[in-house]
Amino acid sequence: MQIKHNISLKTYNTFGINALAKYFITINNIEELKQALTLDGYPDIFVLGGGSNMLLTKNIDALVLHLNIKGISIISEDEDFAIVQANAGENWHEFVLWCLDNNFGGLENLSLIPGNVGSAPIQNIGAYGIELKDTFVSCQALEIASKTLKTYTKEDCKFDYRNSIFKQEEKGKNIICNVTFKLSKNNHTLHTSYGSIANQLAIMNIEHPSIQDVSQAVIKIRQSKLPDPKKIGNSGSFFKNPVIPIESYSKLKENFQDIPGYPVSETEIKVPAGWLIEKAGFKGKQFGDYGVHKDQALVLVNYGNANGEEILQLARLIQKTVKQLFSITIDAEVNII
Ligand code: EPU
Repeated sequence: MQIKHNISLKTYNTFGINALAKYFITINNIEELKQALTLDGYPDIFVLGGGSNMLLTKNIDALVLHLNIKGISIISEDEDFAIVQANAGENWHEFVLWCLDNNFGGLENLSLIPGNVGSAPIQNIGAYGIELKDTFVSCQALEIASKTLKTYTKEDCKFDYRNSIFKQEEKGKNIICNVTFKLSKNNHTLHTSYGSIANQLAIMNIEHPSIQDVSQAVIKIRQSKLPDPKKIGNSGSFFKNPVIPIESYSKLKENFQDIPGYPVSETEIKVPAGWLIEKAGFKGKQFGDYGVHKDQALVLVNYGNANGEEILQLARLIQKTVKQLFSITIDAEVNII
């Protein structure tokens, strides 16, 4: 295992922030991970997966463990389902494509989400009506304190909207090494009711879509709205969509007749933060090397050499303005480091 010193993390985070890692090591298997955790004389550890859900606002004065554990395997299968395990360092979208090549269904709506498999359960990634938890069976994580592998079932993970036990009570205590999914082999259940998917399939002239068609539709929609991190630095949605009481929503509707809302329970409504930010006048605004994406106001972008602190200040300004205008608090979805 080679330990590198003072290396730039610019190509290791999708925001493209040029922060330095004091020490950096690439981890290729669980044994190496255990060894790295026993190294003496280093400050804290910092676990780096695909770097797609973080904003680096400072240099990392720690031993950065870059998780590069690869491998996908079919654990078992019957007529109808396959149990598939993917290691943490697999790129998420490449894993989805592997599933589609094998005609395994369940992940097609999650096509083109940046990041790696190991980070996916942490925030229960979701898009177009589907969340990771819908196909998740379990994951194995190395407990940092004991250096033992522990299995977490779906119930253990306490999945919620962009949330899990790994963001709450287990935060920073484990390193997810692999994730196991239950995927369909035939009679796939398609989720095309999310408005834009049905529209996109109609545009593509597809009446009876396959899982591969749904994936293609999702890819087209994402490419039309979300910036490609390889071209413009970003971390997807910077904020979570806030959930507010129905009474507050009804009051807002008096002043803002077109405010969208999606009921999540009998008493609460989810409001798209993108709409609030657009209404607050930030959509497409550019400040030097950073700004708010022109096609999706929920996404903050780095056009070149912005630093994390600048983007954080913009995020705070957006939060303050949204609060003043709508009395709604919008929380960051990305991890601010
Ligand atoms: N909207 C606007 N202006 C905008 C953006 C959105 O008015 O600039 C309103 C529109 O009313 C639109 C609605 O928001 O109909 C919903 O927009 P969209 O379908 O783009 O979804 P979202 O709620 O903004 C969420 C996820 C995305 C995910 C999409 C599709 C969160 C925080 N974000 O965005 O996830 O791709 O749904 O399922 O839940 C991510 O997490 O990084 C991410 C991109």
